[in-house]
Amino acid sequence: MSITDIDFETAVTELQKGGLVAFPTETVYGLGADAFNPVAVAKIFEAKNRPHFDPLIVHVFNLEMARSVASEFPPLAEQLVKKFWPGPLTVILPKRELIPDIVTSGLSTVGIRVPAHPIALELIKRFGRPIAAPSANPFGSISPTTADHVRTHFGDRFPILDGDATTVGIESTIIDFSEGQPALLRPGGLSLEKIIAEIGRVNIQERSDALPKAPGQLSRHYAPKIPLIIFPFGTLPTPVSGKKCACLLPAPMLVSGFEYTEVLSQSNDLTEIAVNLFAALRRLENLSVDLIVAVETTSCGLGLAINDRLRRAASPN
Ligand code: TXA
Ligand code: MG
Repeated sequence: MSITDIDFETAVTELQKGGLVAFPTETVYGLGADAFNPVAVAKIFEAKNRPHFDPLIVHVFNLEMARSVASEFPPLAEQLVKKFWPGPLTVILPKRELIPDIVTSGLSTVGIRVPAHPIALELIKRFGRPIAAPSANPFGSISPTTADHVRTHFGDRFPILDGDATTVGIESTIIDFSEGQPALLRPGGLSLEKIIAEIGRVNIQERSDALPKAPGQLSRHYAPKIPLIIFPFGTLPTPVSGKKCACLLPAPMLVSGFEYTEVLSQSNDLTEIAVNLFAALRRLENLSVDLIVAVETTSCGLGLAINDRLRRAASPN
């Protein structure tokens, strides 16, 4: 990773022109545009083939810039972001009017976060405005954790700031503060336990695709090209007879009958499992097998988000 002044200047010029720039965050790579420019933001939806009902997260440099995006900052939300920003935490707050509707899919709320990555922070600082950015992958596919993953999808369509592999590996945790009680909308790189330790109660809502509160939270997401099935935590996976199967394990297990086995962490470390998950799914989807058989991990800590991504990868629609 060596990003020069010229790289940053090119990226900032592109954003100022209403273009797109891919950049690293600690979670996954983002595909950014000027959050105040609706025409620029529309290009994100077009590049990703993303449905317009799926709102974007606005990336800011600090709490002060966040206040220029949110019209209200409830005390609990402020307490939480003061503890965990910069970091893998997105808060949903009432939006200010200058945030265009296309960013929030017409909602009166906006998702905001300060990413914990020096390149992302430097980019926002030099640009001087908030950057709207989803993950830099086509809608529904596996999120990118390296600049090469982004290039695989989009080639040279826009500048990509290369900041090596991401260090968290799964997307930010999303907490909604717009309706009184804080509510978890998406488990992610900051564990629910840490959030609860800081602010007490957090509502955990059942996910419903019929009327998603977070409109992007459709079941099938993070989907590899090859079908994936899941074995519960603590069970020993077996291949499906008659099918060529690859195996995805959180930690070493004595399995047999698989064409290929991928172990996410030799020491069963949740941080390492999260970091390696998406790159492993990408390797597996490029094998000539019929099926990926994955095993869940514990539902504690980062395990909640890891299992969430596995279930979405397994979901048939
Ligand atoms: O870690 C991350 O969050 C990464 C990096 C690039 O920051 N970004 C990311 O963005 O995962 P994306 O677009 O793949 O997922 C953002 C999700 C949306 O699908 C939606 O569910 C939720 O955030 N979201 C955004 N704004 C919202 C709002 N106003 N209300 C409810 N949910 C919202
Ligand atoms: Mg995404």
